[in-house]
Amino acid sequence: MFLHGTSQINAQGHLEIGGCDTVQLKEQFGTPLYIMDEQLIRQRCREFVSAFRATGLSFQVAYASKAFCTVAMCALVAEEGMSLDVVSDGELFTALQAGFPVERIHFHGNNKTPDEIEMALEAGIGCFVVDNETELHLLQAIASEKNVQANILLRVTPGVEAHTHEYISTGQTDSKFGFDIGNGSAYEAVKLALQKSHLRLLGVHSHIGSQIFEVDGFMVAAERVAHFTREVYEQLHAEFRVINLGGGFGIRYTEEDTPLAVAKYVEAISQAVHTHFSGIGKQLPEIWIEPGRSIVGDAGTTLYTIGSVKDIPDIRKYVSVDGGMTDNPRPALYQAKYEAMLANRANDSDEETVSIAGKCCESGDMLIWDMELPQVQSGDLLAVAATGAYNYSMASNYNRLRRPAVVFVKDGHAELVVRRETFEDIVRNDLVPKKALSQC
Ligand code: LLP
Repeated sequence: MFLHGTSQINAQGHLEIGGCDTVQLKEQFGTPLYIMDEQLIRQRCREFVSAFRATGLSFQVAYASKAFCTVAMCALVAEEGMSLDVVSDGELFTALQAGFPVERIHFHGNNKTPDEIEMALEAGIGCFVVDNETELHLLQAIASEKNVQANILLRVTPGVEAHTHEYISTGQTDSKFGFDIGNGSAYEAVKLALQKSHLRLLGVHSHIGSQIFEVDGFMVAAERVAHFTREVYEQLHAEFRVINLGGGFGIRYTEEDTPLAVAKYVEAISQAVHTHFSGIGKQLPEIWIEPGRSIVGDAGTTLYTIGSVKDIPDIRKYVSVDGGMTDNPRPALYQAKYEAMLANRANDSDEETVSIAGKCCESGDMLIWDMELPQVQSGDLLAVAATGAYNYSMASNYNRLRRPAVVFVKDGHAELVVRRETFEDIVRNDLVPKKALSQC
């Protein structure tokens, strides 16, 4: 398994992360356990910020909290001086609980409810990324009722869809997100937004995909957005002060993945901005981006205890762990690939090919197919790497499993930032109809 960040093998032959021995972490916190390498998260934050500083552009790096959203994480992002992207009242509430500076919160989503809009306006968040015409009218109505001004970006679809090594120029109008540039709806949305007395149009937003390993898609998107910006400037005399180019920067899950260094993405974006936005309006726009996965993905490791082992001669050996699709739905949802190792016998040589199964009552609950491990025994600890993004945040209580605890590890200290759910948590919202009880 590739060792990310501060992960290393210690003198006892155990996997150690942030100076904490994973065998001891199991003793202290139990398994499954999400272990977050705090130093690596901070390093990634700083890589984005310093790469942008080097470009001379005005910028904001907003962490896309959907990747991993807890109060501790929002507090860390605030400490790193970054902004935050939220897509629901739940994420907004978490940020507010963390005391996140509201002016640096950006609110996304293709179906913000009136309640969510009210909550965000009352909190005084920095910007709404308006997705559609319904929202333009709704936001104007609620802002005017409250007699406040809302900063907005309009989400546009530039006709670029990017995934890992390729981008496709789609000219695609068929997306649930945003106003299409190609069919003229983005232009109409700008006209409409400019008429709204309680909306302050700062600019536009585009997001082209996730887990992207090349810069071309970002550069083409920047070019198309610049073209649109020029059209708006020349025909409507409106100047975009902010251009948000979204997230999507790839990370390494397995050796098949070859992401670029953070600085390379930022340099390419900066180059495209300088080339295509120069000469539109008085000055270059402020550039915002929204990395999620690339901030937390490789900083996360999930620790499991191995339970049953089932050997089907000449076919397959299933090794089951005490979690699965409930704490990591990505293999089942996206056929996502992960690497793992025995955390308690990290120096032992690989001896057999096994497949790692989760404990849910579903054949599709497999975490890793056909990987090499030493001879495993019940009670061994399995560490799965690069689980920091879209694992905890997408976890469920399927089969009424309790969601794992999360610890931040750094310099030999483990800080519990999310408690493991209890049985009480599992039934907390369950109600028994009074009638049924009286009949018992
Ligand atoms: N901004 C917008 C508007 C987005 O929709 C997303 C991700 C991001 C930023 C952050 O993208 P990132 O840097 O994390 O790639 N559940 C999927 C990923 C869904 C991404 C949705 N949007 C997964 O587990 O791979």
